[in-house]
Amino acid sequence: MSGARHTGIIGVGKYLPEKVLTNADLEKLVDTTDEWIVTRTGIKERRIAKENEATSDMAVRAAEKALANASLKAADLGIIIVATITPDMFFPSTACRLQHKLGVSGIPAFDISVACSGFVYGLAIADSFIKSGLVKYALVVAAEKLSAVTNWKDRSTCVLFGDGAGAAVLGPVEEGGIMGIHLGADGSKGDLLQMPAGGSCMPASVHTVENHLHCIQMEGNILFKHAVKIMGDAAKAVTEPLGLTGEDIDVIIPHQANLRILEAVAKRMGVDPAKKLYMNLEKYGNMSAASSAVALCEAVEEGRITKGKTILMDAFGGGLTWGALIIKW
Ligand code: ACO
Repeated sequence: MSGARHTGIIGVGKYLPEKVLTNADLEKLVDTTDEWIVTRTGIKERRIAKENEATSDMAVRAAEKALANASLKAADLGIIIVATITPDMFFPSTACRLQHKLGVSGIPAFDISVACSGFVYGLAIADSFIKSGLVKYALVVAAEKLSAVTNWKDRSTCVLFGDGAGAAVLGPVEEGGIMGIHLGADGSKGDLLQMPAGGSCMPASVHTVENHLHCIQMEGNILFKHAVKIMGDAAKAVTEPLGLTGEDIDVIIPHQANLRILEAVAKRMGVDPAKKLYMNLEKYGNMSAASSAVALCEAVEEGRITKGKTILMDAFGGGLTWGALIIKW
């Protein structure tokens, strides 16, 4: 096909595991309280996948919903991109496993590892493929089973994370669509948020398992400050070249890490968080890349996002990585 001028999100979908883990449940696991978790993070509960439920199992449920929402079939897709830091296994990629579960074959499929910014990166990559004319329709899925890499004895991290998947189908549109993209990374601060063991740097051993080195380790307090600055700067970097200010944004879909981070980012942008921020972290916690994908889907389902609205997606995560997008719906 010839190069498309505009890329739009033409379908969204989500999948959340049934099992709900409340703050009261966590009070029985670690030395914490519902009051601490709610006031420090805004999170009330999160979803936990079944033991035999892999990331691709959640991804396929979200993908099927997004395809149905776009009135397309998997056979119409030109590319599959999965954003995840909790792949089914090192290889084959979760995207290849998802492709098989969707019953298609032949089209390119690959994973990206960008932590919480993964969905925004995925949308940006899909936009390039569509705008260049290489593919017509792209599927971007952000899916995470963070419960599988959580140290359930570490109260500073286990209260934060949840499992889930969100998906978007992108395709050429006549007007609007993705108007601006800003992506970035700072590898020098990678050790602030990491899962140290299991890779070539620290292969799996009895020692790594005994010491929970296959689990998320996070310097939450330092990250908090970086998150507020980086998400604020990313919002500015994507809006300013388009001549937009906070006033022009109808809905902000941020990565759902912490209520206090999001309120501080809104303040930096000079917008009223109650009016512009879409938040669902009280129900799902931080699902890394899946957070902004599920938030986008729910904002559409709830009628917060409708045709003609200007959306800012703003994400920040391990790497460090960040990404912001402006979409005219
Ligand atoms: N329950 C009770 N007390 C706790 C808990 C808990 N679950 N966790 C920590 N505490 C205690 C600490 O031990 C500390 O006690 P002390 O003062 O006696 O030492 C006290 O609470 C304060 O701890 P802080 O870490 O300073 O708490 P903070 O207000 O910073 O909140 C949090 C911690 C929620 C992790 C916050 O820092 C945060 O959200 N950080 C950003 C996370 C983020 O953005 N991550 C990036 C994206 S995630 C991704 O990419 C996968």
